Amino acid sequence: MTRHSDREYTQALYDKVQGMTVGGEMARWATAVQPDLALALFLADERQTGRELRKMKKFRFQLLHRWLLAHIEPCRVADIGGGKGLLAYLLQQSGWQATVIDPEPQLLPDKYKDIFTDERVRIPATAVVPHIDAPFATQMGRHFDLLIGMHAHGSNAQIIDAADEYGCGFILFPCCVIDEPFFPPLGVDWLESVAGYAVQQGHAVYPFRLNFKGQNIGLCSLGRRVRQRGERGEGRGEK
Ligand SMILES: C[S@@+](CC[C@H](N)C(=O)[O-])C[C@H]1O[C@@H](n2cnc3c(N)ncnc32)[C@H](O)[C@@H]1O
Repeated sequence: MTRHSDREYTQALYDKVQGMTVGGEMARWATAVQPDLALALFLADERQTGRELRKMKKFRFQLLHRWLLAHIEPCRVADIGGGKGLLAYLLQQSGWQATVIDPEPQLLPDKYKDIFTDERVRIPATAVVPHIDAPFATQMGRHFDLLIGMHAHGSNAQIIDAADEYGCGFILFPCCVIDEPFFPPLGVDWLESVAGYAVQQGHAVYPFRLNFKGQNIGLCSLGRRVRQRGERGEGRGEK
């Protein structure tokens, strides 16, 4: 696919997913952040050409971290299929209780780039994030307020099932159909199929996009637990 048709495909996919999920107030909530942060995180097409924005494209964990800080109170979060754990580490640094659930144990990277200061930041060799070395299973959801699956394998449907069972929120960036209990019908994108599965189960889901390369459309559902924490102001004032 050329870059142009790739962009058109992504825009059409976004529009389609937006059409089948919730719009109005909730969609506005998902994009309502300070203008400078919005400019860095998001993707109104006419803004995507700046050099600063192109620089963001490799930094999906940093972008999702900032998006989460802008939208959700600190809570107990699981980064499912979290790989090396950078997202969980960044959230932990921001006062969240973050755990990686991934069958492949991997070491944290030794540094990352702060996309807002442009500095390289060292991660101390002693730093750890809690890690469950196992495939995600629905019942693990009971211990968390928010479940994240960033390009996660083998767990998108189960994350939605766990949200259903335990009232967790979820953020999914579905990319490949690997070890999932269903396949999208021919001609239907996996993202659309996952969104459909969540909507069918009664979740209020809204899509958002971050400015990174690859499958950058996220599906967000706040769930009962995240909403209740937000209403009670829990998480505010934590480190
Ligand atoms: C494409 S990588 C994504 C890693 C990271 N989230 C990222 O965005 O770079 C998919 C990850 O899912 C993990 N994985 C595979 N099967 C899984 C399962 N059943 N439950 C949880 N994680 C799984 C893999 O070990 C791998 O780390």
